[in-house]
Amino acid sequence: MQRAILQLLRCPRCRRGGLRPETDTAELLFGPLHCAECHARYPVAEGVADLVAEPASSALAQRGLEQRLVARSYERYVRPALQRALSAPPMDRDSEYLLYRSLLGHPEAPVLDLGTGTGLFARRLARESGLPPVVGMDVSRAMLEESVAQAHEDGVRVDLLRAEAPYLPFQDGSLGGVLLAHSLHFIAELGRLLLEVSRVLRPGGRFVASTWIPPGRAATFVQRSAGLHPREEEELKDALAAAGLGGFARLRLPPLLVVKAEKPVR
Ligand SMILES: C[S@@+](CC[C@H](N)C(=O)[O-])C[C@H]1O[C@@H](n2cnc3c(N)ncnc32)[C@H](O)[C@@H]1O
Repeated sequence: MQRAILQLLRCPRCRRGGLRPETDTAELLFGPLHCAECHARYPVAEGVADLVAEPASSALAQRGLEQRLVARSYERYVRPALQRALSAPPMDRDSEYLLYRSLLGHPEAPVLDLGTGTGLFARRLARESGLPPVVGMDVSRAMLEESVAQAHEDGVRVDLLRAEAPYLPFQDGSLGGVLLAHSLHFIAELGRLLLEVSRVLRPGGRFVASTWIPPGRAATFVQRSAGLHPREEEELKDALAAAGLGGFARLRLPPLLVVKAEKPVR
């Protein structure tokens, strides 16, 4: 993890202190980070900071994403299969990436790929010249391990951390953009999440998120039974406004509902 990202981290336990390595370094691959306020310690291995103190309690769908086999086959088989199950034909990956990229605008500070999974979009963002550093966050160790492997394979630099939304372990106003692709329906506490997004974004920073449009009552029921949280446009619009995020825009591209909002410049 490079210094530019380390400097932005905030302790998820006391939610006050910055996180520091034992010695100042341009890049931290192994070794602990400690909180300057509460002295909590968090391990870093292969550059991935693990900020989850307690094992996360996972719903059924999330437990699947904690499996190595699922993580290894995610980009090639699992993701396309999920999209095919929800609509035919699904949007191709390049179009999806270009959509998110254009909605993110011109970030002037690091971009967080929240629920990064295997880093599919984090790697694409990191390859773009002229963008600030990209940091991927996910709660699944298996997905992050796969993300490290894929980034090595592609020769791309993505800083990664294990942490559990809705809390975001970043300092106030430290990020230029937050992308949450295909993951909004995994987060139970929508209001809390959006308040956190609003807190960590710089003025003018954008939040871009996508979720699966619930295709009818039966599918909504199945998603809920798997521990997911299908959400409609109106609910998202109201929750974004309540969190102080303006400039709402949305695209319905079945199976995806994509929303964009912005931290106002005062
Ligand atoms: C369907 S995958 C999407 C991955 C990637 N963004 C993509 O578009 O391919 C959802 C990801 O969100 C992660 N996730 C679920 N709940 C989370 C939480 N509370 N905090 C952080 N990540 C979470 C899962 O582990 C999983 O990797």
